[in-house]
Amino acid sequence: MGRRAKRAALASALLLLGMISGGGYFGRLADASTAQGKLTGKKQPASAKVLYADNCARCHGADGRGQTAMGRAFAAPNLADAGWWKKERPSDKRLTASIRDGRNQNRMPTFGHQLSKSEITALVRLVRTFGGK
Ligand code: HEC
Repeated sequence: MGRRAKRAALASALLLLGMISGGGYFGRLADASTAQGKLTGKKQPASAKVLYADNCARCHGADGRGQTAMGRAFAAPNLADAGWWKKERPSDKRLTASIRDGRNQNRMPTFGHQLSKSEITALVRLVRTFGGK
């Protein structure tokens, strides 16, 4: 197998894994908003925890440690490690940009097209709690 074919095979395996473990990228997001819509009668922004569970946990893990198959494959940082926060000292601006635009050649994917500004802000606050802040 050539390098490109290998990468393509890896990518589809990871995608499949994501679908199995997370119930699908967009499917879950749609489910969450439908469920909320039913509760309130209109479309409401999903809570940060729901957004995280649906979009982030498959790589970063429910606890932020990144110890999922996909988190390991993409080398997701341990967001629950106080040492990571101390070393990186990421500003809100940086965290917002990372979630909105992706980071490191989209190992961390771009979410700006599917999450609103306020949803991203809520996620920045949530990931900070993983590091004890
Ligand atoms: C496909 C796996 C994957 C998904 C899904 C994912 N991330 Fe990441 N994330 C990564 C990787 C890999 C990195 C490390 C990027 C790097 O090398 O700097 C990262 C980095 C981060 C960082 C640190 C950014 C920085 O500035 O150093 C934060 C915060 C983060 N992710 C939050 C999230 C949030 C919130 C979501 C959901 C909206 C999410 N991630 C979804 C893989 C993922």
